Amino acid sequence: MKHPLEILQLPETMMRYIAGVVLYLTLSSFAVESRDLAGDVIKLPSEVTEFIRGDTDTDTDDDSVGTRWAVLIAGSNGYWNYRHQADVCHAFQILKSGGLKDENIIVFMYDDIAFNSENPRPGVVINKPHGGDVYEGVPKDYTGDDVTVGNFLAVLLGNKTALTGGSGKVVDSGPNDRIFVYYTDHGGPGVLGMPTNPYLYANDLIDVLKMKHASGTYKSLVFYLEACESGSIFEGLLPEGLNIYATTASNAEESSWGTYCPGEYPSPPPEYDTCLGDLYSVAWMEDSDIHNLRTESLKQQYELVKRRTSNDNSPYGSHVMQYGDIELNKKHIFLYMGTNPSNDNYTFVEDNSLPSPSRAVNQRDADLLHFWHKFHKAPEGSPRKFEAQKQLLDVMSHRTHIDQSMKLIGNILFGIDNGPGMLSVRGQPLVNDWDCLKMLVRTFETHCGSLSQYGMKYMRFIGNICNAGIRKEQMAEASAQACVRIPPGSWSSLHRGFSA
Ligand SMILES: *[C@@H]1O[C@H](CO)[C@@H](O)[C@H](O)[C@H]1NC(C)=O
Ligand SMILES: *[C@@H]1O[C@H](CO)[C@@H](O)[C@H](O)[C@H]1NC(C)=O
Repeated sequence: MKHPLEILQLPETMMRYIAGVVLYLTLSSFAVESRDLAGDVIKLPSEVTEFIRGDTDTDTDDDSVGTRWAVLIAGSNGYWNYRHQADVCHAFQILKSGGLKDENIIVFMYDDIAFNSENPRPGVVINKPHGGDVYEGVPKDYTGDDVTVGNFLAVLLGNKTALTGGSGKVVDSGPNDRIFVYYTDHGGPGVLGMPTNPYLYANDLIDVLKMKHASGTYKSLVFYLEACESGSIFEGLLPEGLNIYATTASNAEESSWGTYCPGEYPSPPPEYDTCLGDLYSVAWMEDSDIHNLRTESLKQQYELVKRRTSNDNSPYGSHVMQYGDIELNKKHIFLYMGTNPSNDNYTFVEDNSLPSPSRAVNQRDADLLHFWHKFHKAPEGSPRKFEAQKQLLDVMSHRTHIDQSMKLIGNILFGIDNGPGMLSVRGQPLVNDWDCLKMLVRTFETHCGSLSQYGMKYMRFIGNICNAGIRKEQMAEASAQACVRIPPGSWSSLHRGFSA
């Protein structure tokens, strides 16, 4: 297959500059061959088994006390990240039709998608190729610059005085209540993205979950997390006994995957040059969309989502994981998401199957795919073409800059023979000293510019630098040597940094 980027007409020096990126891409998202989908069909459970009435659920009594709460958060912005906000809007619709009240669903989304000038359907957001609008009715609790780590944690804790901006809605829960948290975005080892800075570090999230538990204000909490390396947020960090059950899109060492991307099958409508969803996210949501959730357990959903997200164990899938109090997965989903009465006759059965997409796009490459499609589609010689080319080059040169400066820093600190080894996995958790990690990230960004979304993949490397006992001054010196100055591109701007 001819590589799409080959057609770019670029100065020779620039071509050499981006060669590494092109090679990387060729090896990853673009080289994926499509797969025959024959045989992957949706079987409605009612076709293969007699329906079971909703009143067999043993948790029903349990549910007669307490309120269901939900916190939904998309941690990104930008049209190329369309899918995260589409995921969150879709999740809202599931909870809403499940019977949760708006006052109990707290939504964080930047809200720059529906009316984005690039959105082919103004005011509409879809989460699958032939799907309807999921944007309508979504509460705008925390949008724009109010989508912050501080507000997210304050909402979880129910601490109104710690909020800045937003609707003021918080999880004002009591001891019999159940809480569902769903987070979708980019991530890296030990870190989750935000459309604002700083990003969210795993230890701060875990500390807040412990505080929430200590305050005695929930019965149980379910956390669904989509991000690259999302397993690293809980692995070795989330203790048992907090009545928390978490599942993640990927293990601690792999990326998660966007889906319904241009060029995939099934692909978005032709006017969309961005991915519409994420693989793990659409797997749980398309399952929840159609079933009677009174009869489906969290474990059943986990198994189904795990199968679908593994994408038949192809390299274009990830390993869905579960953490915390695993036995909570015997509970029915209904306790957290409610259930849509029109699904009463659609009981979950083990062999029901949803189609796997033929390909998926590594979350880290989804932005490149978007910029490339935009470039490819723009008329020759148009200002749009020029603009798209600039965006594509900006994002690629940012990647090259991050890759090269990390490599140099490794070599400076540990020598050419040992530097590359620092990228390897130490075990879990990532670091013991999170303050060291944060400080080294800040030090790097001061000299080299923002890590941005792409740079999150280096968190393990920086964590290993901490684990090796490197001090701030050594890191500063190595960073200053590796980066003569902060590159001028928008991706390097410190406004996009981890550290405020
Ligand atoms: C709520 O947040 C405020 C401001 O950050 C803090 O001073 C206070 O201790 C917090 N309250 C609780 C109950 O955690
Ligand atoms: C479920 O099936 C029963 C029995 O066939 C029927 O009376 C009921 O209307 C169905 N419910 C829904 C929501 O389709």
